[in-house]
Parts: sequence; structure tokens; C-alpha cells
Amino acid sequence: MSIIQQDISLKAFNTFGIDARAAFYAKINQVDDIYGCLDLAKNKPLFVLGGGSNVLFTDHVDGLTLHMATRGISYTADDKFHYVEACAGEHWHDLVIDTLEHKIGGLENLSLIPGQVGAAPIQNIGAYGVELCDVFHSLTALHIPTLELHKFDLNDCRFGYRSSIFKTTEKGQYIILSVKLALAKSHTPVTSYGDIERKLQEMNVVSPNAYDVSRAVIQIRQSKLPNPAQIGNAGSFFKNPVVPFFKYESLKIKYAEMPSFMLESGDVKIPAGWLIEKAGWKGRRVGNCGVHTKQALVLVNYGEATGREILNLAQTIQNDIHDCFGIKLEMEVNVIG
Ligand code: EPU
Repeated sequence: MSIIQQDISLKAFNTFGIDARAAFYAKINQVDDIYGCLDLAKNKPLFVLGGGSNVLFTDHVDGLTLHMATRGISYTADDKFHYVEACAGEHWHDLVIDTLEHKIGGLENLSLIPGQVGAAPIQNIGAYGVELCDVFHSLTALHIPTLELHKFDLNDCRFGYRSSIFKTTEKGQYIILSVKLALAKSHTPVTSYGDIERKLQEMNVVSPNAYDVSRAVIQIRQSKLPNPAQIGNAGSFFKNPVVPFFKYESLKIKYAEMPSFMLESGDVKIPAGWLIEKAGWKGRRVGNCGVHTKQALVLVNYGEATGREILNLAQTIQNDIHDCFGIKLEMEVNVIG
């Protein structure tokens, strides 16, 4: 019996809560189901959906939506590393908690990031001074045109800031099936990211372990980022722009208080949230959507917004930031439609 269903609402499957419909939809509980679905849906466009936490649907989705729901986490180790391999459909935060329950550190700074394991490498998720690439070992993916299984190691993925080959040159070519992480046995928690140390002090923790850092990160995220279960959003909507040093210098003369982060390349990363707030957008509502009151980098759906409304707001903000600062903001969220 086919597991493909027709005309299914994706509202519950995207954290923006957009009521897009999938012409054909299949929930994938085991990898073998993929082959049958691809065969039945030959010549139809294919869209692979994970946790739906980094997508904005601006239209209904033609063709087949494959919703990855494969579960399973396994552990191995050698002298230096714990290796944890998780299926694509595992929730990222559940994986973080599972490693901490196994007394393994390394993922604590990435606590409470919404989404699934299979999506994590696509945009090289990151938070509080750690990115997926820092703990990545390899992944297994199905090459859609040939149905061959391919293994990708760290270098193959060409990770960058919220980027990898799966978002650039190989976009749409692979279905990520599982991800293997290497977590150092000699791990010491990374607490240098400003907010974490302040939060740990507030929690009266003197020598934090990975679990303490996870608790701190969870509290910081909960205080700033809206919970998608209560208000639709996809985390940071834009990437933090990277500008040449001369551009940074000219802005710094005008805005002495502007936060910034110097990169090894000599370029400078500027928080898009600061730019958007400075331009007067923080907390502004436009129709059914708006800019979050506590974090200007997050666009929110107040209930009934369409994807197009949110996209219009995003484009208006992009134009305004360009007019105000001469900086082009890039979207971090994948716009589908
Ligand atoms: N800021 C403002 N106004 C705002 C928001 C931020 O002035 O409304 C300033 C803050 O004061 C701070 C700076 O901007 O000086 C950076 O803010 P924050 O630490 O909140 O982080 P971010 O750069 O806005 C990035 C990631 C987040 C991640 C946090 C913490 C991107 C696009 N976003 O946000 O990732 O959780 O750092 O590490 O890189 C995501 O990708 O969905 C995401 C939430």
C-alpha cells in the first residue's frame, strides 16, 4: 500500500504555521519507504521536509513532499571521541539532551535549536559560539537522481556560516539520511559567548559542566526567541551580514555603539538584529505578521499570515536596511514557492 497521501495541509509541519498544502505527501518512517515513493512520484518535483523550522511557504507545494521521520540514535567511541549517529528525523534538541544524559558534552551550546537532525548540516546550524561543523564527523545521504548512497565527511560538506554544499552547489540533489558527530572526550564547555557567562553567574554556577551550559542556553533562548508552539516563526530570518573593513569603519564613525565581530578574513560581521532595530523595525506589526519584540532578527506570524505577507515584510526590511546602511541583508530562511 502506498504511503503517499494527497492534498495535505503542511500547517502543523512548519514552525511559521503557514497553511500551505502539499499536492502529494508521504511521512518517511524508514529509509526503505523513500524508494517506493520516489518511484511512484517519478517526474514530479520533490520537496524534502524536516522539522519545517527554516522554511517559509509562499505557495502550495506541487509534486511530492517527503517528510522525514526516521528515528534512532547510536553511540560508539574510541580513545579520543564519542561518536553519535542519529537518523535524519530525530529532533535536534532531543539529540542534544540524549548526549547530555549519556554524560557526553559538545552539543550543549546548540540546545533548543528547533528542527531535525537531517537539516542541521544543510545550513550548518550554530549558536552561542559553536557551529555544527565544530562537532561534525560525516553524513550519509541518498543521491536522488541515481538512488546511490553517498558518504560526506567534514571537508566534502564545505561548511560556511549557515551554509553547506546542500544549500548551494548540491541543492535539491540529496536526501540526508543520518548524521554522525564526533564529540571529544576531553571537551570543556565553551562559555565565552557573552550572554552565557552572565547567565551562569545569575544561576550561581562557578565551574559549569555541559549540562549547566545547556540550561543557561535554554534560558537565554527562551527569554529572547519566541516559542513556535505559541507564535509562528523560523528563528533568525536573515543572516548576519559580513562587510569589508572599510565599510565597517564608515558605519562605526556614525554609529559608535554598533556591535560587531571581527573575522579572520579581515571582514566584519554585523548583527542584522541590531541594524533592523536601529532602523526602527523591532516590535513593529504589519497586518498579520511583524518583527519580534525581543529579537529583531526574528519575523513572526501573529496567526493568519500568508507566506507572501511575511515575504513582503522581509523584502521591505531588506530595502530599508539597504537605504539606511548600504547593506544587503540575505535571507537565512528557505523560501519555498
Ligand atoms: N541585537 C540588537 N537588537 C536585536 C537583536 C540583537 O541590538 O533586536 C544585538 C545584540 O544586542 C547583540 C547582537 O545583536 O549585540 C547579537 O545578538 P544575539 O546574540 O541575539 O544573536 P544574533 O546574531 O541576533 C545569532 C544567530 C542565532 C543564534 C544567536 C546566538 C544568525 C543569523 N543567528 O543571532 O541563530 O541563536 O546568534 O548565538 O547567525 C538561527 O539561526 O535561527 C538563530 C536563532
